[in-house]
Amino acid sequence: MNNGLEDVVAAETRLSDVDGEAGRLIIRGISLDRLVGRATYEDTAALLLDGLLDRPVTVSDLKARLGRMRAEVFTHVQAMDEALSKLPPVDAMRALIARLPDGEDFETALRLLAAPAVFLPAVLRLQKGEAPVAPTPALSQSADILAMLNAGLPSREQVAALDAYLVTISDHGLNASTFASRVVASTRAGLTSSVLAAIGALKGPLHGGAPGPVLDMLEAVGTEADAKVWLVRALDRGERLMGFGHRVYRVRDPRADALKGALKPLTATGQVDRDRIRLAEAVEQAALAILKERKPDRPLDVNVEFYTALLLDALKFPREAFTGVFAIGRTVGWIAHAREQSLEGRLIRPRSVYVGPMHQAA
Ligand code: ACO
Repeated sequence: MNNGLEDVVAAETRLSDVDGEAGRLIIRGISLDRLVGRATYEDTAALLLDGLLDRPVTVSDLKARLGRMRAEVFTHVQAMDEALSKLPPVDAMRALIARLPDGEDFETALRLLAAPAVFLPAVLRLQKGEAPVAPTPALSQSADILAMLNAGLPSREQVAALDAYLVTISDHGLNASTFASRVVASTRAGLTSSVLAAIGALKGPLHGGAPGPVLDMLEAVGTEADAKVWLVRALDRGERLMGFGHRVYRVRDPRADALKGALKPLTATGQVDRDRIRLAEAVEQAALAILKERKPDRPLDVNVEFYTALLLDALKFPREAFTGVFAIGRTVGWIAHAREQSLEGRLIRPRSVYVGPMHQAA
């Protein structure tokens, strides 16, 4: 029995490679630091999906079709009722996605890429009592998400920052939500079912639910001078520091620096609260020192969620929406893995060891 399946290899993939010792992430043969800042969301989606669907996926075709699909998917926003609007945004978004048809083809994949990008901004606006903003098919996915969220065209720096985020988190080996997607795909249930399972796995605080609590932590710390004392007390209470630690990385998560870099153009143009960045850097330094002291045998470094929190906050997403934005970016990875599993894998069906009572009569 391998608790948490740590170090268990459960799939072969051509999609991404996570090197936990070197702190390196490769997506389809390209190092993350070469992709971020150069590739858009559409470039990365085409990179991940090409060869896995029933038709070739090119960037220009994907971009045009995705825009039109956002408009089509928007018609489902009217299904949002009072009960859904009371749910956390990621749950409301998941409920709307559950209405979409299942399938394995390019059309289904496209619909699933468009759906979270349209539903999340709509849910957030409805929850604030504002009318949803219809998509603009001619915009890129990142520009349109921000336009639907804030009812106005975003700045160039904001679009670039969201692209950088979506590219950074597009795929990451066999993380918990991607594994969930592959398990469902291995039964041939369809891509919509895979994505729904993956969203369920993503939202937990040990996976994609961490960045909201990162902001809560920064606010609770308050000032740079209070960082050390606050963090020591949190660890004394047995709490985990959100945005630190990773199952695979034994060094700094390369995605953290990609996102830190993506924040710079926003900071340089005054589109970020500089005090918050300074506080975050102080908390990061203090946390790394304390974790090293407390857990000398377990290298614990900053993970992707720490700078995700700062970047998504700078883009004016409310913290309760952070997991939903993660889902927007990771859906392409879930779909690519699900297709890879359907095409090349077998039914995933591990064994368990029975450790319960054994009655004579049984
Ligand atoms: N703060 C304090 N201590 C920690 C932290 C942390 N963030 N992370 C791990 N530890 C400690 C554990 O308490 C444990 O100590 P112990 O052996 O004395 O009990 C030891 O390090 C090993 O922890 P595990 O739970 O075995 O590590 P695992 O690989 O299962 O956990 C995880 C990885 C879930 C990410 C963990 O580091 C964590 O809870 N981090 C905080 C939440 C977070 O940031 N999640 C986002 C991860 S990135 C992503 O999913 C996109």
